[in-house]
Amino acid sequence: MEKESFHFNCLILLLIVVASRSLALTRPCCHEDEKSALLEFKAAFFTKDEKPPCCSSATSDEPAKIESWNASTGESKSDCCSWAGVQCDKVSGHVIDLNLSCSCLSGKINSTTSIFRLLHLRSLNLAFNYFNCEIPPAIENLGSLRDLNFSNSGFMGHIPHSLGHLTRLIHLDLSNNRLIGTTLNDLTLLPETTSTCAPRHIDPNIFDPCQDPHVNKFGGLNHPKRLDRHFNSITGEVPSFLGNLVQLKSLSLLSGKIPSSLGKLIQLTNVDLSFNQFHGAIPSMIFQLQDLQRLNLNSNNLSGTVKLDWFSEVESLQVLGLSSNKLSLIVETTISNDYYALGLGSCNLNGFPEFLQYQTHLFFLDLSYNNISGHVPEWFLTVSTKYLRHLNLSGNFLTSFAQDPIIFKWEELVVADLRFNELQGSIPIPPSNMCNLSSTLEVMSLQSNNFIGKIPYLNGNSCALIMIDLSCNKLHGPLPRSLCNCDNLEFLNFGNNQIMDVFPSWLGSLRNLKVLILRYNRFHGHIGEAADGIDFLALQIIDLSQNIFSGSLPSGYFKHWTAMKVSETNSSSYIGDAIKRAWIFSSDATFHYSMRVIAKGIQMNYSKIQEYLTLIDLSSNNFSGAIPKASEA
Ligand SMILES: *[C@@H]1O[C@H](CO)[C@@H](O)[C@H](O)[C@H]1NC(C)=O
Ligand SMILES: *[C@@H]1O[C@H](CO)[C@@H](O)[C@H](O)[C@H]1NC(C)=O
Ligand SMILES: *[C@@H]1O[C@H](CO)[C@@H](O)[C@H](O)[C@H]1NC(C)=O
Ligand SMILES: *[C@@H]1O[C@H](CO)[C@@H](O)[C@H](O)[C@H]1NC(C)=O
Ligand SMILES: *[C@@H]1O[C@H](CO)[C@@H](O)[C@H](O)[C@H]1NC(C)=O
Ligand SMILES: *[C@@H]1O[C@H](CO)[C@@H](O)[C@H](O)[C@H]1NC(C)=O
Ligand SMILES: *[C@@H]1O[C@H](CO)[C@@H](O)[C@H](O)[C@H]1NC(C)=O
Ligand SMILES: *[C@@H]1O[C@H](CO)[C@@H](O)[C@H](O)[C@H]1NC(C)=O
Ligand SMILES: *[C@@H]1O[C@H](CO)[C@@H](O)[C@H](O)[C@H]1NC(C)=O
Ligand SMILES: *[C@@H]1O[C@H](CO)[C@@H](O)[C@H](O)[C@H]1NC(C)=O
Ligand SMILES: *[C@@H]1O[C@H](CO)[C@@H](O)[C@H](O)[C@H]1NC(C)=O
Repeated sequence: MEKESFHFNCLILLLIVVASRSLALTRPCCHEDEKSALLEFKAAFFTKDEKPPCCSSATSDEPAKIESWNASTGESKSDCCSWAGVQCDKVSGHVIDLNLSCSCLSGKINSTTSIFRLLHLRSLNLAFNYFNCEIPPAIENLGSLRDLNFSNSGFMGHIPHSLGHLTRLIHLDLSNNRLIGTTLNDLTLLPETTSTCAPRHIDPNIFDPCQDPHVNKFGGLNHPKRLDRHFNSITGEVPSFLGNLVQLKSLSLLSGKIPSSLGKLIQLTNVDLSFNQFHGAIPSMIFQLQDLQRLNLNSNNLSGTVKLDWFSEVESLQVLGLSSNKLSLIVETTISNDYYALGLGSCNLNGFPEFLQYQTHLFFLDLSYNNISGHVPEWFLTVSTKYLRHLNLSGNFLTSFAQDPIIFKWEELVVADLRFNELQGSIPIPPSNMCNLSSTLEVMSLQSNNFIGKIPYLNGNSCALIMIDLSCNKLHGPLPRSLCNCDNLEFLNFGNNQIMDVFPSWLGSLRNLKVLILRYNRFHGHIGEAADGIDFLALQIIDLSQNIFSGSLPSGYFKHWTAMKVSETNSSSYIGDAIKRAWIFSSDATFHYSMRVIAKGIQMNYSKIQEYLTLIDLSSNNFSGAIPKASEA
């Protein structure tokens, strides 16, 4: 009996030994030469001292992946295959995937740089670093590459012809560098960053909340320069040798004219050329890309007349972005594609394209800044009622809905942007059940219309609103108390209306409210005292100016508006960064609130609000008594 169990134990031991050996066989350690190439690369380019904020605020607290790489011989640490950002082939043990995006790498790489000795790489991501040099011709050593991502990594100058030798490339992202193609002619110099990890440049853009709407309406919307995420662009022609990359499925790059050689890349499924300076017409070759599913040409300088029909030749196309160019779009009724997202902003449309009524899976629709006027047709309100999440009709000349008040039928609507129209009547009621607040709507902007009447009282406790802007209308009556259920609310702007109410101290319980603008209304009475310590915890911007508040200044509140005391951070993030759902075009993935403020007698228009901006404006009221001491405020 004892003997048997001994054998049994031995057998188990043996099995464990065999198992661990075979495990060791299936997961080989990394090759010494590749390990040293990686360590050499770290030693030459990693600049720990210049840590964040190099990327978005979301990742800035994490240490760079490369920081933990270590040569010392302590078990798994020495196996470079287990290092962060490194992946090896399970059989050969060669490094095949290197993802060092946003790793605080800086310095000039050249053809002798060790990274070009990683000959087995299939995927290389060096995005969001700063190399400040040309792409070395040795890139061609990496002949196995499928994915190459050099986005936002400070490369400049010519694209080496040797890149055309990487014929296995499937995804190529060279966006947001200062690369030039084959000609140097109109090289535009854009702001240099001084160090790898310097915060991306911040541009206090000019955008007027009440009166700017129809300026520059045709011939392209003067969209904010996106220097933070797209801080440098490239000019010159796109090298035609890119046409060699016949396996390419996704492409994001540069500017210049869209190369007609693109038409050779017949396997492309995803083309993203947005936020560049591509000019000229959309080349007809693009309509030969039969596998294309997503085409994003938003925010360029493309011109000419385009028939939406042409895109119907590409049957697989589901996502099409043409917004913010100088295109004139002609829409016939025979559009056969079943689109998922359509960006048709600033496309010189004169009416609602009728084919939309047959689109049943539309998720995203941008018709902003067209020449659509008058009445919103009844059929439009039933377009893709089950799926539509993002609707942008801002900057048109719409005057009314079929009914008053209109109740939107889009069950899942997340973003409703109807700003800068001429809409009259009562404000639309978000998709709702019997007047319960919508549980999906996050952004509702009705700014600068002619809405009148009371703001409807909305029931329910499932409010998802993050941003509500009803400013610059003719609304009166009290603020709807149900807003106190909107726990996620960050931004509330009811300025420039005729609202008659007392100070909404009940909004104080909203723990995420950062911006409260009630300027130029008929708010009256005493502001009163804060409930202890819990009121308006996150508030950074409060504008109560041009009302008829009376009594003493709310020094009690000043003590609690603690968020305002955060004087400075190095964050280049903006209020509103939380809103990320329901965007389909990656480069539009955030939406920034805009507002206008008057500080020290100077009017400033903000198109986005930095996280650390703080402001209190109580001017032009009927306050009396002493001004609180700085120590109290
Ligand atoms: C490498 O790791 C060992 C043990 O984890 C540590 O003692 C050593 O300081 C590390 N070296 C570097 C260069 O980080
Ligand atoms: C590369 O790393 C970045 C940052 O760590 C991460 O966000 C991204 O998803 C990674 N990419 C891939 C393809 O794994
Ligand atoms: C490449 O860069 C290294 C330093 O990173 C430098 O020592 C070397 O001289 C450079 N080689 C060439 C050909 O520029
Ligand atoms: C390139 O890498 C960056 C950072 O990881 C990422 O945001 C971007 O989407 C990548 N590009 C492509 C085309 O995948
Ligand atoms: C802000 O917008 C207003 C209204 O259109 C305009 O008069 C003013 O000049 C703008 N301010 C700045 C600084 O551009
Ligand atoms: C955009 O195109 C127009 C001509 O259509 C040209 O005058 C203008 O300079 C271009 N702008 C840029 C930024 O390329
Ligand atoms: C805009 O639409 C109006 C009619 O609604 C028309 O008279 C005008 O010519 C259009 N403008 C352009 C630039 O198409
Ligand atoms: C709607 O379109 C306009 C113009 O393109 C843009 O400025 C605005 O941010 C868009 N709204 C949303 C919510 O994305
Ligand atoms: C409205 O919300 C309340 C709870 O806030 C719920 O009891 C009621 O059933 C909802 N009504 C509808 C029609 O969904
Ligand atoms: C912000 O960055 C500067 C240098 O870029 C640094 O001197 C300063 O201490 C930083 N401030 C904070 C609050 O991190
Ligand atoms: C302003 O306050 C004074 C008392 O301090 C009061 O007499 C006056 O009516 C108030 N004005 C308005 C417009 O409310």
